[in-house]
Amino acid sequence: MHITMIGGGYVGLVSGACLAAFGANVTVIEHDPARLDRLKTGTMPIYEPGLEELVAAQRQAGRLAFSGDLATALQKSRAVFIAVGTPTRRGSGHADLSYVHAAARAIATHAPDGLLIVTKSTVPVGTGRQVAAIVRQARPDLTFHIASNPEFLREGHAIADFMQPDRVIIGLEEQLGAPSTARTLLETLYAPLSGPEGRLLFMGLESAELTKYAANAFLAMKVTFANEMADLCEATGGQITDVTRGMGMDPRIGPHFLTPGPGYGGSCFPKDTQALATSARQAGTPTQLIETTIAANEARKRRLAERILALAGGDITRCTIAVLGLTFKAHTDDMRQAPALTILPLLHEAGATLRAHDPQGMETACTLLPKGITYTATPLQAAEGADMLLVLTEWPTFAALTPDQLAPRMRGRLVLDYRQIWRKDEWLEAGFHYHCLGSAPLPPHTCP
Ligand code: UDX
Repeated sequence: MHITMIGGGYVGLVSGACLAAFGANVTVIEHDPARLDRLKTGTMPIYEPGLEELVAAQRQAGRLAFSGDLATALQKSRAVFIAVGTPTRRGSGHADLSYVHAAARAIATHAPDGLLIVTKSTVPVGTGRQVAAIVRQARPDLTFHIASNPEFLREGHAIADFMQPDRVIIGLEEQLGAPSTARTLLETLYAPLSGPEGRLLFMGLESAELTKYAANAFLAMKVTFANEMADLCEATGGQITDVTRGMGMDPRIGPHFLTPGPGYGGSCFPKDTQALATSARQAGTPTQLIETTIAANEARKRRLAERILALAGGDITRCTIAVLGLTFKAHTDDMRQAPALTILPLLHEAGATLRAHDPQGMETACTLLPKGITYTATPLQAAEGADMLLVLTEWPTFAALTPDQLAPRMRGRLVLDYRQIWRKDEWLEAGFHYHCLGSAPLPPHTCP
């Protein structure tokens, strides 16, 4: 079965390559000429483990192609997926749906009869019906079907999340019951995941759209709760890892997404919490929990910068800080809403000397962060002459570093492990002052 995937970005590329691996013939439509050229030469526009190999294999098998010609692709397609960006509109918190609406208009122009139009982008509740209205208005004569199929891909784990999902959510416009054309088509596309023990979960359009946002907002809230408990532990002598282990052994809570950090970032949690809170406010049912989560997360990033300044004994201008990790989490090159984008400018502005390393994020980070920050090829080079080590991203290469490797290079002995990647006792034995979030805070130090 031929399908068209509109959008060669994170969601469209991963989804297109994986659906090709499930047996579909996929044409990914990318309207950015530079990005399309890179895709056609086999160069991935994003860092996602395993993606380059998967795309190459599917292209080799003749099941995956890249194009800028939607008309031709649609003519031979049974289904088209809208996988374009829905960024947060500046200032309002709304999801910007201009790309989704543009895709709907382009589909209407070239759609063959009987086409299934699937929204895969994360879109506010009601968008599926807006897409249907746009198509219906442009082509009153056209027979077509609408479905919602939101993705639950984690950056750095996207292919595994697609191939072995906890569930595949499919929203259908028609009443549930007798298998519809849309349902049959999607069961075919997701054949490896269909069947009685399958992972396909069918529901109404609005429910599917809401499920995506609700899941992400809940996870963001769960992380924020862990961050707040970590602060309380620091103030009262608790140990967050013990508290969260104790919480997580309750299957109603579960152990995941309870690791404190410098605040959540990425392209999803910040955008989706904002969009859901805005949708809820517009619907007259404001979500205080989500609005508070958003505010608490932003405040956390600033507060951690203030703590670092206070730790430097007030004279941060004498301090050199080695920053290990810039991306919003490990196994990605994504800098969107990364805590580093809040924390580093505040430290730089206060006069700290910053030396930073990230395995994947520096190319983008250096365009977003203030001038004057030194970027180094390795984490050890970042540590040269540093008074303080600050871990902001949990890259495995950082976790492998030992006090013996770092001590000779550093001038000071302060370690702020904001991702709990190292063992406290090893650093204390090596003569370091070590702090990780949710454990006993350190007294102020004066940089030499
Ligand atoms: C998320 C959802 O997990 C995924 O299902 C959805 O499709 C897209 O959004 P992603 O944004 O890639 O995926 O990142 P995720 O791994 O969920 O982490 C989100 C943020 O929470 C990151 O900043 C991460 O560092 C932070 N986090 C996560 C914590 O601080 N502690 C945790 O225990 C887990």
